[in-house]
Amino acid sequence: MRQSLSESYLRLAWESPWRVRRHALRLLQLPLITLRFLISGVTPGPGGRYFGMPVVQRYKGSIISIGKDVELRSSTRSNVLGVSHPVILTTLSREARIDIGDGVGISGATLCSASSITIGPGTLIGADAIITDTDHHKLSGTRSKYPLAGAACSPIVVGRNVFIGARAILLKGSSIGDCAVVGAGAVVAGHVPPRAIVAGNPAKQVGWNTETEIGDSSIQAPAMVSKAPKQSRM
Ligand SMILES: CC(C)(COP(=O)(O)OP(=O)(O)OC[C@H]1O[C@@H](n2cnc3c(N)ncnc32)[C@H](O)[C@@H]1OP(=O)(O)O)[C@@H](O)C(=O)NCCC(=O)NCCS
Repeated sequence: MRQSLSESYLRLAWESPWRVRRHALRLLQLPLITLRFLISGVTPGPGGRYFGMPVVQRYKGSIISIGKDVELRSSTRSNVLGVSHPVILTTLSREARIDIGDGVGISGATLCSASSITIGPGTLIGADAIITDTDHHKLSGTRSKYPLAGAACSPIVVGRNVFIGARAILLKGSSIGDCAVVGAGAVVAGHVPPRAIVAGNPAKQVGWNTETEIGDSSIQAPAMVSKAPKQSRM
């Protein structure tokens, strides 16, 4: 006999009771977290599930947009691996933007933007991953302690249904194709083709993901994603 959805939820709750506690806390904290978003000038889409308080630092005039049904895991025990800090969403300039698509899941990762970070629908970002579109400091000449003075920045685009492993790092100008997989601890500084599985530092292709559904995207076969041009922020 087929198990109904409510039966399987009950079974999951019985067999892993920490999930019940986690969801009870989530519901209790929802008004406070919603208020925190509003104070930061962010209006998330409906159906969001927020486990613990994220850090939202929005530069005045910049945009942080969060789609519907987005899940953010910020408290230490909100992910079975444990996250070492809350989800951090930071924009560093008036022109910066972070766009998080519908159904995205983020566990204790940092998204820090001086130009633009786009996360496609259905993408999952693992515990403590870092996605930053700027070097934060100038590489040559007299280096200023003032953040962004002369630092290079270049947009990051992550496609739909991408899986980014725990502690991966995506550096400026990275572009990740639909349904690609970035291994745990990988460091990406360029382009990853759709459906590629990459791992290591620097990230190299170790396989193809042939199974994940692309959704309504039109991508049929692996194709290179072009790297965004570098920009410099004074
Ligand atoms: C990248 C990953 C998806 C690859 O899985 P897979 O397709 O089953 O690949 P395999 O385990 O067969 O590994 C293929 C090769 O890549 C290497 N490799 C796999 N993952 C790696 C990683 N994270 N870093 C470095 N090398 C890695 C393997 O050693 C193997 O190398 P070899 O061919 O020289 O022996 C997986 O290893 C991974 O990192 N998963 C992420 C888990 C995670 O962080 N979850 C998030 C929870 S919040």
